Amino acid sequence: MIKIITIIGARPQIIKAAAISRTIHNKFSSSIHEFILHTGQHYDDNMSKFFFDELNIPKPDFNLNVGSSVHGQQIANMISGIEQILIDQPPHAVILYGDTNSTLAGALAASRLYIPVIHIEAGLRSYNKTMPEEINRIVCDHSSTLLFSPTLTGIQNLIKEGFNPETKPPFNIDNPKIVHCGDVMYDNSMYYATQAGKNSQIIDVLGLTTNRFLLVTVHRDNNTDNPERLTAIFYAINKIAQEEDLDVVIPMHPRTSGLLEKQVPPALYNSLMNNIRIRIIHPVSYFDMINLEKQSLMILTDSGGVQKEAYFFKKPCIIIRQETEWKEIIDNNAGIVTDANEEKIINAYKTFSQNKKRISFPPVFGDGHASKFICQEIVNLFSNN
Ligand code: UD1
Ligand code: UDP
Repeated sequence: MIKIITIIGARPQIIKAAAISRTIHNKFSSSIHEFILHTGQHYDDNMSKFFFDELNIPKPDFNLNVGSSVHGQQIANMISGIEQILIDQPPHAVILYGDTNSTLAGALAASRLYIPVIHIEAGLRSYNKTMPEEINRIVCDHSSTLLFSPTLTGIQNLIKEGFNPETKPPFNIDNPKIVHCGDVMYDNSMYYATQAGKNSQIIDVLGLTTNRFLLVTVHRDNNTDNPERLTAIFYAINKIAQEEDLDVVIPMHPRTSGLLEKQVPPALYNSLMNNIRIRIIHPVSYFDMINLEKQSLMILTDSGGVQKEAYFFKKPCIIIRQETEWKEIIDNNAGIVTDANEEKIINAYKTFSQNKKRISFPPVFGDGHASKFICQEIVNLFSNN
């Protein structure tokens, strides 16, 4: 039996982990035993527990409860907690997802103990090292033995950094294997789309009309922590809602809720609060979120995961960042990168709403079975290595 410790901490990692946990449970339970270690990076029920319940993810075997703090402190607490668990109960490998501080801590703790790292969502690059996530993902990729990239762009990025796509076993940190596998988030979106449609009441609860509302998420630190940027984003949203007579739904990340009133001018804040078209709500469940995505007219976001889900559900996406790791979305005209620029955001809205671009959504994120492929690769590697 291959013993794996999956290390997660932030909302998107919990959601991604659901796909692999489900596949292990349904198809690989005789060969893989998964233990889940939650760092506690996200801890509000609507950022953590509710996803375990809704997506049937086994309860974490370990929870470090690190909570929020400045990055150095948070990462240090994670590393020492993870290290102790890996010493006490050494697995054959750890699974890490994405690019958060929990990913970085897991990569450092495991690699120092010579425990192989499996990185799911490897190879993504923004080529912007002011993003904490860029450093996290580079360190994690370069500490990994098995790297699963959801896209071909990710594989090309890894090759540019010296990874060899033709390595032969035995694989290890100095002879890693890179694999193009599709996206576990796509697996989830396909798996849960119908169920979400049946179980989620959010469209009725909010009184929304299909294809008549904009879905917005904003949480990236360089947007929330910068008053000019956050103000430009919310001016644009307010203006679109007013001028286009369009509902706007904003399930707000706790980071943004904590900062909005402080960062934007009082007149804008009051206007947002008094605009009946704008619904600022708490973070929603995964089923509610994918239902909102499916029924929306368009999505405006700085989230990595929400950008991709927009594409999965064939919705145009305004990307309020300076760049994106998901180049395929831009290549197919399905997304426009506007940065936090009011004019560019409004122009992107017009471009999409007036159908000025020929958008396409070819299947660049796999076939919806990335998790099965990943589990099989894990079995192949750790049974033979
Ligand atoms: C983290 C990730 C980011 C990812 C995002 C997903 C890093 C460096 N960043 O950003 O890559 O896109 O998660 O959502 O790892 N907070 C709460 N309750 C919670 C969690 C957070 O109130 O349950 C608030 C706290 O004020 C905290 C702030 O949100 O200080 C930021 O949380 P943190 O986990 O540090 O980073 P995120 O912005 O969530
Ligand atoms: N999500 C959710 N509820 C929300 C907002 C997002 O379930 O209120 C889901 C979303 O569908 C996607 C994931 O959270 O699967 C994206 O996480 P987030 O935007 O926090 O992080 P990122 O992907 O940018 O790292």
